Amino acid sequence: MKICMIGVGYVGLVSGACFADLGNTVLCVDKDKKKIDKLNQNIMPFFEPGLKDIVTKNFFSKRLRFTDDLNYAIKNSDIIFICVGTPSSKKSRSADLKYVFQAASDLSKYINTFKIIVTKSTVPVSTGDKIEQIILRKKKRKLFEVISNPEFLREGEAIRDFRFPDRIVVGSENKKVIKKMQSLYDPILKKGAKFFSTSRKGAELIKYASNAFLATKISFINEIANLCEKTGVNIEDVSIGIGLDNRIGGRFLRAGPAYGGSCFPKDTQALVSTGDDYKTNLSIVKSVIKSNNSRKILLTKRIKLILSNKLKNKKITFLGVTFKPNTDDMRESSSLVMIPYLLKNGAIINYYDPSGPKNIFSKKKNIKFYNNFKDACYNADLIIIHTEWEEFKAIDFSKLNKKRKIKIFDLRNLYSKKIMKKKGIAYYSIGR
Ligand SMILES: NC(=O)c1ccc[n+]([C@@H]2O[C@H](COP(=O)([O-])OP(=O)(O)OC[C@H]3O[C@@H](n4cnc5c(N)ncnc54)[C@H](O)[C@@H]3O)[C@@H](O)[C@H]2O)c1
Repeated sequence: MKICMIGVGYVGLVSGACFADLGNTVLCVDKDKKKIDKLNQNIMPFFEPGLKDIVTKNFFSKRLRFTDDLNYAIKNSDIIFICVGTPSSKKSRSADLKYVFQAASDLSKYINTFKIIVTKSTVPVSTGDKIEQIILRKKKRKLFEVISNPEFLREGEAIRDFRFPDRIVVGSENKKVIKKMQSLYDPILKKGAKFFSTSRKGAELIKYASNAFLATKISFINEIANLCEKTGVNIEDVSIGIGLDNRIGGRFLRAGPAYGGSCFPKDTQALVSTGDDYKTNLSIVKSVIKSNNSRKILLTKRIKLILSNKLKNKKITFLGVTFKPNTDDMRESSSLVMIPYLLKNGAIINYYDPSGPKNIFSKKKNIKFYNNFKDACYNADLIIIHTEWEEFKAIDFSKLNKKRKIKIFDLRNLYSKKIMKKKGIAYYSIGR
């Protein structure tokens, strides 16, 4: 099939490359010309495992192309995916839809034959209706169909998630269009993914409800971890014990720092805002947001406590600063709350993250990036394991710092408490 992706971010680029890999012809368009130029020089705009290989392969086989010529891309495609960002609005909790509406308005100019316009961006209920209205200003109803096909991939596992999703959700009442979408996804459905079609609004809400539910699971287990610390119970046993119940499921039950990233924080806020619009109090989601925000503060206070409330001139090393491994995305990472607080209170921060130094810290004083964990940990008063990158899972900490007694705060429970104790390391973790 001939496909156009509008917006070449995490979602647009990964799904565009994967659609091309399935044998489709894909034209990727972005308003950011620099991004397009780089992609045409085979430079990826962000880090995602396996992405470069799949982009390169399909780029050289000419199934995947990058352009800023929207006119050409629309005219040469049958299915157009809108994959632009939907960040939180600056003034309220709601999703800022200006990029989506702009994309809809831009593409409407070039529709010449029948097109399926697919919203892949995460958008509030009824956004499809608004997109339809925008396109109707320029084109007749029979020339297009607006449908919803929310994306569920996770950064860091995006290629795998695209190829082996649990389900494909399509929101449309048009049987022909649903069939076309089903055949587009056929190679994936054959591998076991379920296809679920519903109303357009239904699909829009499914995406938000899914993210809010997963965020709830994380916040829930984090709060139970707090109780474990007071009662002497091991959170890992609790996670396993409740996860064995099929009604609950074991995933997203690992206690740790607050959830972050480009989706859960903004999507839970936007869902509450939609609730407000429809005079529906989503009190559980509101509590989750509150609980998650307070977790960042709670863990920062715990860092202070581990250092006996003395942060001045203390050398603190962060292993990982991204919100999760296998991504360079810093959006809403809890390190963005912890590090500024610690710096403000006189600490000296050293950090290492396999995805490289972070611009956001580059202008701050007393924070330094090291390009390996050994140098970053040298002479640290406290090592904080913030992100569970693979290379942090088997470090022999006793060999790192010979001069002083090592203190570690493991926010990901990567190590055994018993072994750490045997090695004479002061080891703190979560809910154990
Ligand atoms: N990142 C994820 O893990 C993820 C997962 C599932 C769903 N989503 C959702 O998918 C959407 C996209 O997320 P993302 O992380 O890929 O965003 P992103 O910010 O990485 O990329 C968005 C891209 O769209 C481009 N863009 C904006 N307006 C445009 C326009 N009018 N024409 C052409 N290009 C335009 C931007 O330049 C940017 O390159 C969001 O709604 C997000 O909530 C994201």
